[in-house]
Amino acid sequence: MCGIVGYVGKKQATPILIDALKRLEYRGYDSAGVAVLTDKGVEVYKTEGRISELEAQLPDINGLCGIGHTRWATQGAPTTINAHPHVSGNISVVHNGIIENYNELHKFLNNEGYEFVSETDTEVLAHLTNMYYKGNLVSAVIQGLKKVKGTYAAAFLCGDSKQVVAARKESPLIAGIGNGENFIASDVTALLKYTRDIVYMHDYEIVSLAGGQIQLYDFWGNPAKTHIDSIDWNIEAAEKSGYPHFMLKEINEQVTSVHDIMMGRVSKLNGDVALDEIKLSMEEIQNLERIVIVACGTSYNAGLIGKCLFEGLAGIHTDVEVSSEFRYSNHVLGDSTLVVAISQSGETADTLAAIREAKNYGCRAIAITNVVGATLAREAENIFYTRAGPEIGVAATKTFTSQLVALYLLAIYFARIRKRMDMDRSKRLLASLTQLPGMIQQILNSKDLIKKQAVRFSNAKDYFFLGRSLNYPVALEGALKLKEISYIHAEGYAAGELKHGPLAIISKDTPVVAIATRSPTYDKMLNNIREVKARGAQVLAIADLNDAEIDKNADAVIRIPVTDELLNPVLSSVVVQLLAYYSAYALGCPIDKPRNLAKSVTVE
Ligand code: AGP
Repeated sequence: MCGIVGYVGKKQATPILIDALKRLEYRGYDSAGVAVLTDKGVEVYKTEGRISELEAQLPDINGLCGIGHTRWATQGAPTTINAHPHVSGNISVVHNGIIENYNELHKFLNNEGYEFVSETDTEVLAHLTNMYYKGNLVSAVIQGLKKVKGTYAAAFLCGDSKQVVAARKESPLIAGIGNGENFIASDVTALLKYTRDIVYMHDYEIVSLAGGQIQLYDFWGNPAKTHIDSIDWNIEAAEKSGYPHFMLKEINEQVTSVHDIMMGRVSKLNGDVALDEIKLSMEEIQNLERIVIVACGTSYNAGLIGKCLFEGLAGIHTDVEVSSEFRYSNHVLGDSTLVVAISQSGETADTLAAIREAKNYGCRAIAITNVVGATLAREAENIFYTRAGPEIGVAATKTFTSQLVALYLLAIYFARIRKRMDMDRSKRLLASLTQLPGMIQQILNSKDLIKKQAVRFSNAKDYFFLGRSLNYPVALEGALKLKEISYIHAEGYAAGELKHGPLAIISKDTPVVAIATRSPTYDKMLNNIREVKARGAQVLAIADLNDAEIDKNADAVIRIPVTDELLNPVLSSVVVQLLAYYSAYALGCPIDKPRNLAKSVTVE
């Protein structure tokens, strides 16, 4: 999704804007641009393509104040003319979001004599602000935005003064406070090099950066209170530390992230989970009749595992809904329904809309997210932070396994309160959970074996991932990961569904990854492996370390350490992540920034 940055200070703005934009590259983009205030007025440079192409055509720019943008095309093709900043008179603007009443505003501005040069909806923001500008940029921005329906994080620069004004509604925006210099950006990773003092902006807030100061305003132009948060992520966490790709770094970081999420939340001694962040009373938890999980993509796959846990451990009926479907469907919800929204970024537009919709029905809500201060965290009364550190690769990896651990902890917490799990069982399960980091390390140690299999099948056109029960969501996740970064078509299937259609396309040319860890459905899984082998498919099984049976059935086996069978998805996920990574690597794909995709999908 689009990234926006802004700077006002004592240093040259251009290198800071370019550096901050590069740190937002992972969000996905197809053009980039900057506007900088110089002695000659505002200079605007933009281009389709990468930031490096923009950088290559920048002259020496002398200016201490500017805005920048990476655009992920929604309305209008990814061309230079449609790239941001957009300009009207003395005003330049960069924007992330969608102006829904674009047609109406376009007509209105045409009648007022404004001519449009781009196909973008953003250009109306430039013209509106220009139209209302009478020497006060904050006031002009507010008047313009009052006419707008839709979503925005937008930053404005005017040729008259060293000031950047930015505003937010339903698209992420933060301000950063430095020493005599201030910033705005779409997310903290852009600013970690410069400051860790962050203001998370709320909807309908306006911020002005000028003269070494920042000032917040409400939508009526009244000064508003500034809440500064100090964040503990550091710049090293957001850099590659010697790995060729962020994705590989983040896969490796799971040894730490799976450990960190449990810190202070798990007592192995008495089998208790301490979740101070969950404000539901014991009585409310006992009376819960239903859980609805809303999420998208990988977070949705985590939700499917959450369903097995909430139902299996805590005895609470659970539905999992794709957020974009949930927001437009008919609901049967009430105050004994708990909504659990899962989102790594906490900014996914559909998941935000879904949780708002559920809250309208009086549901209680828990957000599971990785980003402190994200919009989702502000929408839910209960926030379960996954503490995985910044995830830059577009493919979610460490945040997925952290989401799983969050769901294990929540399910055990509910199960204990609802008296569905005795202390012995919870002690054993928690002890097994705390052994996962070491086991992940063992899987990482066998990466060469996984790489070999990935390379072997990297010319396949179609891949199948099969699993049953808890392994079925892992099969979905394996297929999602593979197609996302290697562009190989892949399908995840519940193994028992094979005979109902997909078996027709299984042949010697369709490698099948069978997630076949020990479980009550293990024997059924072996039958499914035989079914596909009988059609000529090559089978790569993911199985337990001590499973001798599997060798007789599969062509190759990747082994994972033996743990409580409920926890297998954490381990087998690491295998499918590595498989996807090495397949994409063998094919020379741009692993961290796959085509057409954005890290954080902040528009519908
Ligand atoms: C995962 O690899 C994908 N990039 C994508 O499916 C992602 O999980 C989805 O867009 C949801 O994002 P969120 O967790 O930030 O809400």
